[in-house]
Amino acid sequence: MTSERITVPMVRSTKVSRGSEPLTMVTAYDFHSARHVDLSGAEMILVGDSLAMVVLGHGDTLSVTIDDMVHHTKAVKAADTRAMVVTDMPWMSYHTSRSDAKKAAAKLVRAGAQAVKVEGGTKRAKVVEALVDVEIPVVGHIGLTPQSVNSFGGFKVQGKDLEAARAIIEDAKAIEAAGAFALVLEAIPDVLAREITAQVAIPTIGIGAGLSCDGQVLVYHDVLGYGVGRRPKFVKAYADVEQVSVDALSKFVKDVRTAQFPTEAHSYHSTDERVGKLY
Ligand code: KIV
Repeated sequence: MTSERITVPMVRSTKVSRGSEPLTMVTAYDFHSARHVDLSGAEMILVGDSLAMVVLGHGDTLSVTIDDMVHHTKAVKAADTRAMVVTDMPWMSYHTSRSDAKKAAAKLVRAGAQAVKVEGGTKRAKVVEALVDVEIPVVGHIGLTPQSVNSFGGFKVQGKDLEAARAIIEDAKAIEAAGAFALVLEAIPDVLAREITAQVAIPTIGIGAGLSCDGQVLVYHDVLGYGVGRRPKFVKAYADVEQVSVDALSKFVKDVRTAQFPTEAHSYHSTDERVGKLY
């Protein structure tokens, strides 16, 4: 895109159909992962509530709170990135009232988020509108919304039949009309994502939504192959950091056991001979 800091208007105007390059968004949860994503040239960092799963080891995203998201947003903010920082509104931070949603989103902005992400379609349009009204830019997220995991009966592909597909198109239009500047499409058929991308003027950012979106988002740990467990079909691991980490740690353990570490180079020395004869 550009070496300038990424802004909301820049992202909002990105449409592949109008000649833009596709956007990239990657999650980050701390200073170092944010730096890595920024150095990769991705336009957007998502402080995702996937934090619960990939960092904390929980089975879904429902356990993280607004305080957790504030804590991790501050760490990401410390990396002072060119990439735009978007933070997920966690479950129950925007479901109780529009006023609660505004207060929760304000905490994320004060922690360093330039925008927030809200899951849900038509049902959440009023919340999106309320946030945009107080100058908080919003990224929508429809299709497989992980905060609905219990209602969906698992992490299941959405919009596979005509009725469900039509409802997701209505969700996309409602979130666009409410003022969102970008829209994440998760785990829906590629043809449905293509249709939504053609029907909305804001960029669509896919995760398990095929090639026709205006951008793609993946989870940091999934891209790096950092950690084990459920790896959805849409994930492409570009490295095996799990193996690199275990190999390095095993070498350390072996070096300690065989007195190969620490060496002279890793030790401090004193020029005062008496220090070595204290006892
Ligand atoms: O929390 C997250 O990582 C997300 C992505 C899956 C888009 O919402």
